[in-house]
This record gives sequence, C-alpha cells and structure tokens, in this order.
Amino acid sequence: MTTPRKLHIKSYGCQMNVYDAQRMVDTLAGEGFVETASADDADLVILNTCHIREKASEKVYSELGRLRVAKEEAARAGREMKIAVAGCVAQAEGEEIIHRAPTVDIVVGPQSYHHLPQLLQRARANGRALETEFPVEDKFGFLPQPKPDAIRARGISAFVTVQEGCDKFCTFCVVPYTRGAEVSRPVAKIIDDVMQLADNGVREITLIGQNVNAYHGEGPDGRAWPLGKLLQRLAEIPGVARLRYSTSHPRDVDDSLIAAHRDLPELMPFVHLPVQSGSDRILAAMNRKHTADDYRRVIDRFRAARQDIAFSSDFIVGFPGETREEFSATLALVTQIGYAASYSFKYSPRPGTPAAEMRETVSALEMDERLGRLQGLIDSQQSAFNRAAIGTTVDVLFERAARNPGQIVGRTAYLQPAHVMASPDIIGKILPVRIDSLERYSLIGELATSAPSLVSQTIGA
Ligand code: 5AD
Ligand code: SF4
Repeated sequence: MTTPRKLHIKSYGCQMNVYDAQRMVDTLAGEGFVETASADDADLVILNTCHIREKASEKVYSELGRLRVAKEEAARAGREMKIAVAGCVAQAEGEEIIHRAPTVDIVVGPQSYHHLPQLLQRARANGRALETEFPVEDKFGFLPQPKPDAIRARGISAFVTVQEGCDKFCTFCVVPYTRGAEVSRPVAKIIDDVMQLADNGVREITLIGQNVNAYHGEGPDGRAWPLGKLLQRLAEIPGVARLRYSTSHPRDVDDSLIAAHRDLPELMPFVHLPVQSGSDRILAAMNRKHTADDYRRVIDRFRAARQDIAFSSDFIVGFPGETREEFSATLALVTQIGYAASYSFKYSPRPGTPAAEMRETVSALEMDERLGRLQGLIDSQQSAFNRAAIGTTVDVLFERAARNPGQIVGRTAYLQPAHVMASPDIIGKILPVRIDSLERYSLIGELATSAPSLVSQTIGA
C-alpha cells in the first residue's frame, strides 16, 4: 500500500471558496491525497484566494513567503512540497504570480479545479503549470460527483452550487470579471446532487452562487426555473429538512422567492440580502440598480410573507465621494431594518473596476471612524437579536460534538450556534431547545420536551 499524500488547503473569502476547497479535496482524494491541518507536513499546499477584500494579493504574497521557507525545509528533509495558488487572485493575476513568486508550482483558476490532477502531473514533469482560462460553457461540466464518504465526512450541512458568475457589474466589485457571466446549472443536476447528499445523511442544503437569486436554470419542462420554484422542488426531496440560499441581490427578488418563503417550512427564515449603502447617490455610483426605498420595499415583501424572517447584509463604508450625510443614511437604514447579523467593509479599490478610477477618496481616518460606528450599531443589533432568544424554545439542527466534553452543537434557523448537554445520537436531528443563556455569540440551552417553537419543521423521512 502506498502512503497517502498530504494536502493542506488554506481558504480565504466567500462561501463559494469554502465549497470550492471541498471540491478540490474531493478531486484530489482520487489521487491518494488526504487533508492535513498543517502546511508544514503537506506534500501539496493550496492557497484558495479571494480577490474581493482589501490587500488580497499582498496577503497572498506574504503567505507565499512563509510557504517558501516551509518548502525549503521540506526539501532539506528530502521531501518535495508543491505549492498551488487557486481562487480569484489566481484567475486575475495568474501570470504575475508565476513571475513574482518562483516558489509557486501551480496556478489554477476557479473554473479549472477538475484539472488539478493533470496540472500536478505537468508541474512534476515540467517544473510549473499555469491554468487560468477555461471556456464558460464547460463551467459546470466538471463538478465531480461527490463521493459518499466525502459527503458523510462533511456532516449534515452541505453547499450546492446552483449558479456562478454575475452580470450586475457593481462598480466596486471584481466578481463579474473574475467569475465571469452568470451561468445557472440545470434543475435536474441540482436535484441529483441534493438527492445524493440527502441519501448520505445531509439534512441542510445551502444553494450558493454569487448572485443566487438570478438563478434561471433549465427545468425538466424545458423552461427557465426561478430560484423559488427550484427551492419548492428541492423541499420535496425526502430527508431535506432545511434549505438556505446565498447571496442574493435585492433587484432579483421575484414573487416565486417570496412565495417559497410563505409556503415552505423547510426554507429557513434568514436571508442574506446585501444593500451596501443607505444613500441613493452612493447606490447609484455603485451601480447597484436599486434605491434605499426599493430595498425597504423588498424587505417588507419578505416580512409580509413570513413574519419571523430575519436579515443580514453587507455594507461598504468610504466608497469614493461618500459624505458624512451619505454615511449617516446607511446608519439610518440599518436602524430602520434591524439586522440579525451583518458584514461591513472599508472600501478598497480593485484594479480594473470602474470605482478604482474614481478620484474623490475618503481618508483612512474617516473610513476607520465610519467602520467603527457602523460595526458598533450592527453588533448591538446582533446582541439584541441573540438576547431575544433567551427564555424561548427554538428548533436546533444538531451538527457535531462541541469542544466541551458532553456538549453537542447545532444551529438555529438564524444560524446562531446553540449548545446543549446531550448524547451524540441527536446529531442530524432537529429538536426543540429551551435557551437559557448567551455566551458571546452562542446560545446555551437544554433539550425541551415539548416544542412550542417559532420555526416548525419536520425532520424528513
Ligand atoms: N471594497 C470593499 N468591500 C467590497 N466588497 C466587494 N468588493 C469590495 C471592495 N472593492 C464587499 C461587498 C460584498 C462583499 C462580499 O464584499 O460588501 O457584498
Ligand atoms: Fe459583485 Fe454586485 Fe455581482 Fe454582488 S451583485 S457579485 S457585489 S457585481
């Protein structure tokens, strides 16, 4: 028997990257790779990069500096370590990485992960391998059929890509350039994936895509199905207890999605709906294609369909030319909507995007001050939302043993972690939990015997 080779993946950024990392693990499992927690003893290290956040490429180069040292040490010990850069930085700056970082053996863009085994071979034969381009029509041809063992190891919650790319062209964002035009997978393929996952014990499915509610995949009837219709069909699959989707654009919320929230108990009442800013002038400069009022109306439609629905959002502070009054409009919108959670970022120019050409920058000091104020407000809303759970009974889908012995951790409908003392038999079940207290962001409670819960669900067959 050959000894397995060790693979270490360091992922940055979005949910899509977390899912892609799992896809790379699956692809390389076929080549005899097993995952290792440390880069130092790995035979292959993959940096799964993200281009969205600030100083993304600098972070990659400094991480590559550290890896070069580890690679040299491995070589001294008579071991070969290969280094790959994957993800959106690889896609955007592939050639430059090859020139600037001789330690890198492989560069692979998000559309080419199924080529990893061949790239590895090529790197062994020729020294290095670069692959960042791949025809769009092949984008989904490669999705490896998940192996049952790999799925089981992944637990009871899984991501399924339904859509990739984005046609919205927000002026600050690189996604339309790095991930390309919007493409939706056919309904039948998604049903197959979800059925296989459910057969293997997965209870919660999150449909993902950069602009997931722009989904328009071909249905079995030959027509384009909207996301709401897809969710309705997936909810019928035995074993699927919870459905989620991320990330949505306010402009693409249609009646089918609202109806899905009204009609499907499996569809969790927690929606990530980024707004970015509360100022109409800034929203227009961002090319968001909606006003603050349009966004409020979308929120109202969701709330009318499902009264226990909660929201999270993304915000950018310090977009070029953002005045104090315009920033205050963002604070006002946050106060008015009331979020369960949110992410906020300081604007950072991404080369090649229209906003990167805009001259009126906001000073670093002012950005810090605005970010601090916004995060303070978001934190207070999140704490209030979590505190409101104390004393109530909520449904929790149990996922795994927690770090504290005897404790099992799961998630509420709103993705809050919830801990109880219980037997591991409860993993994979949705059970009512009486919440007693809050520890930082975690709810602590006890299994309840009866279930007057806010979100009622069945566990599925
Ligand atoms: N600067 C700051 N934040 C950004 N985001 C995307 N691009 C930028 C940028 N250039 C944020 C947006 C988006 C989230 C994923 O990242 O808020 O919704
Ligand atoms: Fe980027 Fe805007 Fe598309 Fe979201 S909707 S991925 S922010 S271009």
